[in-house]
Amino acid sequence: MPDISFAKPSMPKNGALAVLVAEDGLPTALADLDAATEGAVTRAAEAASFKGRKGQSCTILAPSGTGLPRLVLVGLGKAGDLTGFGAEEAGGTAYAALAHDTAAAIDARGAATLGAEGAVRAALGAVLRSYRFDKYRTKEKPEDKPKLGKLTVMADDASAAKAAWPAAKAVADGVFLSRDLVSEPANILTPAEMADRCLALKSLGLAVEVLGPKEMRKLGFGALLGVAQGSANEPRMVVMQWHGTSGAAKGRKAAKGSAKPLAFIGKGVTFDTGGVSIKPAAGMEDMKWDMAGAGTVIGLMAALAGRRAKVDAVGLVGLVENMVSGTAQRPGDVVTTASGQTVEVLNTDAEGRLVLADVLWYCKQRFDPACMIDLATLTGAIIISLGHEHAGLFANDDALAQTLIAAGKVTGEPVWRMPLGDAYDKMLKSDIADMKNIGGRPGGAITAAQFLQRFVDGCPWAHLDIAGTAWSSKDKPTTPKGATAFGVRLLDTLVAEHHEAKAKG
Ligand code: BES
Ligand code: MN
Ligand code: ZN
Repeated sequence: MPDISFAKPSMPKNGALAVLVAEDGLPTALADLDAATEGAVTRAAEAASFKGRKGQSCTILAPSGTGLPRLVLVGLGKAGDLTGFGAEEAGGTAYAALAHDTAAAIDARGAATLGAEGAVRAALGAVLRSYRFDKYRTKEKPEDKPKLGKLTVMADDASAAKAAWPAAKAVADGVFLSRDLVSEPANILTPAEMADRCLALKSLGLAVEVLGPKEMRKLGFGALLGVAQGSANEPRMVVMQWHGTSGAAKGRKAAKGSAKPLAFIGKGVTFDTGGVSIKPAAGMEDMKWDMAGAGTVIGLMAALAGRRAKVDAVGLVGLVENMVSGTAQRPGDVVTTASGQTVEVLNTDAEGRLVLADVLWYCKQRFDPACMIDLATLTGAIIISLGHEHAGLFANDDALAQTLIAAGKVTGEPVWRMPLGDAYDKMLKSDIADMKNIGGRPGGAITAAQFLQRFVDGCPWAHLDIAGTAWSSKDKPTTPKGATAFGVRLLDTLVAEHHEAKAKG
């Protein structure tokens, strides 16, 4: 991640420059550069048909009269239409063009319609685009690696941007942690290893507990343990707590009458072979990222702690590997969940809902949270419904659904609400147990959500099916291809805008 600093606008003495340009502000934005280059910058922009449109960019190498090795123009679209996420995208596009310079600056004055936020969001976009998972590349040539170590973001309101940056940086750190976890192969990131990485977050002030098979047997986690029983790698459940409201932060008892915590729950299947209902070989490697829901919850908790969020939140992740072996669960097995409800497991590949059933129930009973939000790469069916453009949102609470939709627009992580209802719930009827774990092909993402709803015990709840959004097969302005960390910023923003604002003290 490049080091970010903020400064008043000036012509950089060394390093490259990117200028964020609004569609309706081209002549003003380029005035100084044109003065230095006898109009060559505007001529270059014209030759490249660069108009400042959203998503447009244009690189000019070594424009004479400026001393710059590289000048990049990045379009913002119409200034009046610019959003915070739009500024992030421009910052990300600028980063991609500047990655091979050792030092660079971004002139973010074009985003000043957003005030200091324009510069902060441009910086955040640049940082988010800089993510790489390269720990297993031992032979990469130095000249192929990005070199950008220092990035200066220039704005008239540089001091306000500087003051806002540490919180944004903490969120970026949470996104990077989430992407690291999701990118890691399953031979390295076993449930136990993932739990260890949660324990390391104690250094941020999180309280972290790890439960193993013995503890989970005592709690009656028959559904989660049934999924885990075919694997040589033992399951774990991790409970992370952040006490950010007055009094509780230093381990003291929570202040009297302090609000119920918000709860975040993640599916952490470190590898999903499908079990005995085995998946086809082609593409099975993707199932290393079937723990993305848990990866998001862990990144989110790190972000909340990293920026000392004024909120009480708990994060719970169910970590298992879904394998095939002589001890694996069979189609037709009946398991008893922590809630006491029984499930006929007709397809061992519908394992995520079994894991979440026990963790959701446990979370509700132990914490009585204000609301529970779970994230899971739960169904292929949500990809058929929404493609890779929206995550599926299911909720038993309209207000909660609305705040999630709003937060998704702020951070560029869009969610689309899907229906729940009795007719779908009936599709889970089993001949021999309280329910079966599959509802048939029609409405497959919905029946999966109905299954989860049976374990939330009336708590306000939302479920995000992120199977289509957790991984990207192509580069996007703020997300290089690979793990996206979808949901970290969405939920951090939900907390910041709907829970901290109201928090007293
Ligand atoms: N982890 C998968 C869902 C998935 C598919 C995530 C593609 C990411 C990309 C989940 O455990 C699963 O296998 N779901 C089954 C459910 C079915 C057996 C009812 C599915 O979607 O096919
Ligand atoms: Mn599966
Ligand atoms: Zn799965």
